Amino acid sequence: MTKVLGIDVGGTGIKGALVDTRKGELVTERKRYPTEGKIKPVEVMDLIAKFVDDLQWQGLIGIGFPAIVKNGVALSAANISKKWIGMNIDEAVHQKTGLNTYALNDADAAGIAEMRFGAGRPFQKEIVIVLTLGTGIGSAIFVRGELLPNTELGHLEIRGKIAERRASDAIRQKKDLSWKKWSVLLQEYLDEVEFLFSPDILIVGGGASKYHEKFFPHLHVHAQLLPAEHLNLAGIIGAAWYAGHVAK
Ligand code: BGC
Repeated sequence: MTKVLGIDVGGTGIKGALVDTRKGELVTERKRYPTEGKIKPVEVMDLIAKFVDDLQWQGLIGIGFPAIVKNGVALSAANISKKWIGMNIDEAVHQKTGLNTYALNDADAAGIAEMRFGAGRPFQKEIVIVLTLGTGIGSAIFVRGELLPNTELGHLEIRGKIAERRASDAIRQKKDLSWKKWSVLLQEYLDEVEFLFSPDILIVGGGASKYHEKFFPHLHVHAQLLPAEHLNLAGIIGAAWYAGHVAK
């Protein structure tokens, strides 16, 4: 078995587990530590060290991170502390834990998990867009199985406002919108995504995906609309798989 510690850094907490990267399955229970305010580097480093300690982990670490991440460096900070910008996440975690680490965008991680081990598996010849609906909106585009990284479709503008500030799951919760009312905002967003990219398949992941039965019936899209099979575990699984793959 090839095991990697998969970590998913989110806007309101950090989740992790050991993952069997051949099967794309968790081999330890998923743990989540909530965080308050915009998540800062020192908090994340401490929590990662805690995961490593708790699991007595000595191997690779993969991190799904909610920003543009190029070669391990965070290049944006929409829902996280601005202190991240320019920081090399791979190096910082290595310094803290002594373990080899590879970070990538969180939605790219979730997308990879779905394409390899989940709802996207049958669609290796199609155009697939994975959207994660959580604190923000994340995106991953796969063209015939190949990922175009760091697409940031949550930052498309709808009616002059950044899409994730209108239609994310966090906005639904904050404004206490009914599923139906939220679906109207989501529909506008999906219309724009479809107009610009004409995907064959749309996979919805992130925190909201476990409630897909409540809002999918209100949505009308041309693409085939599917919930993420791994729901909000996809980020952990994909991050672990990515690290295992890059380290080879
Ligand atoms: C960030 C993306 C991230 C998404 C989901 C957005 O605010 O800009 O990089 O994938 O949130 O966490």
